[in-house]
Amino acid sequence: MTLITSPVFIPEAQLKKAGSFAALFGNDNPLCLEIGCGIGDFVVQIAELHPERNYIAIDIFNQGCRQTCSRIEESGLRNIRMMRIEARYLLHHYLGKDSLQAIYINCPDPWPKKRHRKRRLLNKDFLNLVLYCLQPGGVFNFSTDFVDYGESAGELLAADCRFINRHCTPYTHELGDYPISKYMRRFLDLGQPIYFCSYSKREGLQIEPPKLQKGFRLRWPKEEV
Ligand SMILES: C[S@@+](CC[C@H](N)C(=O)[O-])C[C@H]1O[C@@H](n2cnc3c(N)ncnc32)[C@H](O)[C@@H]1O
Repeated sequence: MTLITSPVFIPEAQLKKAGSFAALFGNDNPLCLEIGCGIGDFVVQIAELHPERNYIAIDIFNQGCRQTCSRIEESGLRNIRMMRIEARYLLHHYLGKDSLQAIYINCPDPWPKKRHRKRRLLNKDFLNLVLYCLQPGGVFNFSTDFVDYGESAGELLAADCRFINRHCTPYTHELGDYPISKYMRRFLDLGQPIYFCSYSKREGLQIEPPKLQKGFRLRWPKEEV
């Protein structure tokens, strides 16, 4: 466990003290979130394409956070911050209603065993949380190399009338100009397709604040943060 001292790394206490992401960035540009950023290659690419937006990259894996911070620093980009925090915890506690312009999840842990599938991040409860935090018209992007996860994500999203599909099919293998993450690259190089879903939140919805589910490891001891 290495202590991360990078200036782009935001411990939870710093966010609490600042009071908002706008205060941390020093501007109120639209805010986007990448969940499970791994080594940070995707967030650096997307943030470079959109200097007019702010990006928060999060992961629960300390080593990945450290590598992401190095990548952000090397890029010289000033519109990205990194946090080591669990996705649902962050969304519940620090990202309120209509606060995000976009959410990105690339190659999340697939939990391939049938008995473990309930551990997957994407499910109905999570989508309620996503919809609560996305602003109207905000976009939820999800990509996976795992066939079953891609098909079920497409099914779940396409069946939810609170979303508008930005493609013609529940998922697509066409990535267009969507940046490629480390894991996506690994599977594309093996000739395996990526299942990509991109859905925007319909305008005029009233979404109730979702309840925080129990059973996830949501926080770390102070000395680990
Ligand atoms: C398979 S890796 C993919 C990394 C990267 N997105 C990519 O495509 O190269 C999944 C990442 O998600 C992180 N992760 C898993 N569950 C998470 C959660 N609930 N909140 C935040 N990060 C999570 C893991 O630590 C891991 O780094």
